[in-house]
Amino acid sequence: MTEPTVRIDLGERSYSVRIAAGLLGETGEALAGATGAKQAVVVSDTTVAPLYAQPVLDSLTEAGITSRVLTFPAGESNKTLATVSAVLDGLLLHDPPIDRKSVVVALGGGVVGDLAGFVAAVALRGVRFLQLPTTLLAAVDSSVGGKTGVDHTAGKNLIGAFHQPSGVLCDVETLRTLPKRELRNGLAECVKHAVIRDAELLDFIESHADDFLSGEDGALAFSADGMIELIARNVAIKAKVVAEDERESGVRAHLNAGHTIGHAVETFVGYENIGHGEAVALGLVAENALAVSRGLLRADVADRVKNVLAMLGLPVRQGGLDADEIWRLMQHDKKAMAGRVRIVLPNALGDVNLHDDIETGEVRRALEALQ
Ligand SMILES: NC(=O)c1ccc[n+]([C@@H]2O[C@H](COP(=O)([O-])OP(=O)(O)OC[C@H]3O[C@@H](n4cnc5c(N)ncnc54)[C@H](O)[C@@H]3O)[C@@H](O)[C@H]2O)c1
Repeated sequence: MTEPTVRIDLGERSYSVRIAAGLLGETGEALAGATGAKQAVVVSDTTVAPLYAQPVLDSLTEAGITSRVLTFPAGESNKTLATVSAVLDGLLLHDPPIDRKSVVVALGGGVVGDLAGFVAAVALRGVRFLQLPTTLLAAVDSSVGGKTGVDHTAGKNLIGAFHQPSGVLCDVETLRTLPKRELRNGLAECVKHAVIRDAELLDFIESHADDFLSGEDGALAFSADGMIELIARNVAIKAKVVAEDERESGVRAHLNAGHTIGHAVETFVGYENIGHGEAVALGLVAENALAVSRGLLRADVADRVKNVLAMLGLPVRQGGLDADEIWRLMQHDKKAMAGRVRIVLPNALGDVNLHDDIETGEVRRALEALQ
């Protein structure tokens, strides 16, 4: 298979996403070509660095780029300003410190990418950064589009900046060590992309579901070609949406399909008890049910999406949800405007609209689809 490259078209902030097996070993060459940098700092977490930092460092050395690694403890609970501060110390207090031409290399999942990207946005008022995503979610979603940031006690992703990377190298071989539950988190976002933009992508996911999830944790046995195609199709969708609306003043909001109810469910159930992709799966099922009840979406299409999610091992049922509390959480979501709930509903696969006239009774009935 030829190596797919997806171009993110943003004028002078444009960049390429390369997707192939073995790309970590090309980091140095890519970075030298894209940025001409002489110094790079790899930012990673304590799970990913021992697995994948060495080939990245070797490749940077080979390209004549001085490099070192800074790690922070893995997990969403460390996506904080305190970690940003520690990483900035590592960049600025080192001898020699970074300069304006240095590059931050984000090696890891979405937590590393968001945090390292934010560090790159604020260090010396902005240095360049490269994304090396190692989770499916990071590959198909968070590494593309330039949203960077960290969490605050008041909510997730409340502190951040738009800062586009200089490039994304997605080495699919890294996904073989990813726990299946994490792989499923990424697959939920792929189903979301199919719902908002691409009916054929749902066919593709449906026909490859067994392949993507074959093998045991730590030795996932998917075919590299299937995974490369999955990622390339999804990045192409995200690329198009981001190119149309970089700062989310319009269609970029479509990427929040499944997330309005999904986020509320995630908060209600507790972040430690449910994966983000699992919450998105439940959100998609409930929001599709809402679209059916409004007469927008055919019931058989909603059923099909639900079946694909279930086939991927994602939850499509959740008991014990308190509809009043879910509604309250939806009104307080940062994507709500002045307390008005905004929700993306499909008319058909690949065709969605943003609605801001949702009522509590509809949400109550939609949640019944999860019983
Ligand atoms: N910027 C955006 O546009 C955007 C979009 C969606 C999500 N996000 C953010 O992404 C984050 C979630 O990302 P995530 O799901 O990648 O989580 P994550 O970065 O926490 O990774 C999940 C777990 O897998 C481990 N891991 C990563 N790669 C591995 C590998 N190859 N092998 C074994 N273990 C590996 C990590 O150490 C971590 O423990 C959230 O903070 C979310 O807010 C951002």
